Amino acid sequence: MNLPEQSSTHSARLAVELVRLRRDYVVRSPVAGSRRRRRQVVRAVDDVTLRIDRGETVGFVGANGAGKSTTIKMMTGILQPTSGAVRVLGRDPVPERRHLAREIGVVFGQRSQLWWDLPLRDSYRILGAMHRLTDRAREQRLERLAAGLDLGGFLDRPVRQLSLGQRMRGEVAAALLHSPELVVLDEPTIGLDMVSKEGLRRFLREDRAERGTTLFLTTHDMGDVERLCNRIVVVNSGTVAYDGALDSFRERLGAPRELVVDLEEPLDVLTLPTAAHTLAVEAGGIRHRIAFSGAELTVPTLLTAIGSQAAVRDLSLSEPAIEDLVRQIYSRGGRL
Ligand SMILES: Nc1ncnc2c1ncn2[C@@H]1O[C@H](COP(=O)(O)OP(=O)(O)OP(=O)(O)O)[C@@H](O)[C@H]1O
Ligand SMILES: [Mg+2]
Repeated sequence: MNLPEQSSTHSARLAVELVRLRRDYVVRSPVAGSRRRRRQVVRAVDDVTLRIDRGETVGFVGANGAGKSTTIKMMTGILQPTSGAVRVLGRDPVPERRHLAREIGVVFGQRSQLWWDLPLRDSYRILGAMHRLTDRAREQRLERLAAGLDLGGFLDRPVRQLSLGQRMRGEVAAALLHSPELVVLDEPTIGLDMVSKEGLRRFLREDRAERGTTLFLTTHDMGDVERLCNRIVVVNSGTVAYDGALDSFRERLGAPRELVVDLEEPLDVLTLPTAAHTLAVEAGGIRHRIAFSGAELTVPTLLTAIGSQAAVRDLSLSEPAIEDLVRQIYSRGGRL
């Protein structure tokens, strides 16, 4: 399928354009008592349409087997779509795979792209040559990556000797060495502990802020989406179940937010707007926990209402975890 002509100027603005994308795998399984093998078609990606502007940050989430990695493989030119169209940075990924490789950086968290027996530093030399970076440009960039990802202690160690967290930082540096315009990460934080995850996320945010790249990532850790993405796309059985801003995703599911206020003076009861209610009053009437939901009711409105009844000493706000929201979507078979 070709993309319609009128989309060509529009395409220049887009980092990624997937139109009615589909991918089938043919699997052959043995049949009991026969030498024949049964042919079966697995539809991994069914009908995915997605447009991502340059500079966007998108979290692509879904259950195991939902079709995320298959979609990424079609975006990066590793797999040919069964039908539908895919354009990445204005290119057709399969025939233009080599060109595209210079403009995108990819990490497959489940699979290493580094040379196992070579010191990490040598992998970067090879990659630098593949991307036609000068020695100077490569060393400058590597210095920045080594500082941001804390690679200094193990640049000269063979990859096979690195811990998972060290290797993953090494993988991210490899993907970013050539300062790609589009960064595609397939489960970049898999298996990492909280501290390593946070470090990696912090660096990805910094690098994106400096270079204004487009970020597309899959993850099972909603912390990654919360910290790195503005937009969330939920995929279920190969189709897009939700696509929108992270904020409206929370709102649309109507999950309550929680405001905790500490008052200067004890008060038994606060009168609240209708979309809010008191969950608990603690510390002898000082601390009030309030649940509220809906787009109309904002924190300032709520605070104005409270402020007319008591002086507020301190407050905190907690958002519902995206993970719980995604679970709700799965339990409804992918519908909102
Ligand atoms: N090479 C393959 N041959 C046959 N079937 C495959 C192949 N790769 C993936 N599949 C099937 O396609 C479907 C989608 O797989 P995919 O790896 O894209 O899912 P995913 O969303 O990345 O899952 P996960 O969260 O587990 O990584 C699954 O049913 C999977 O079993
Ligand atoms: Mg996957």
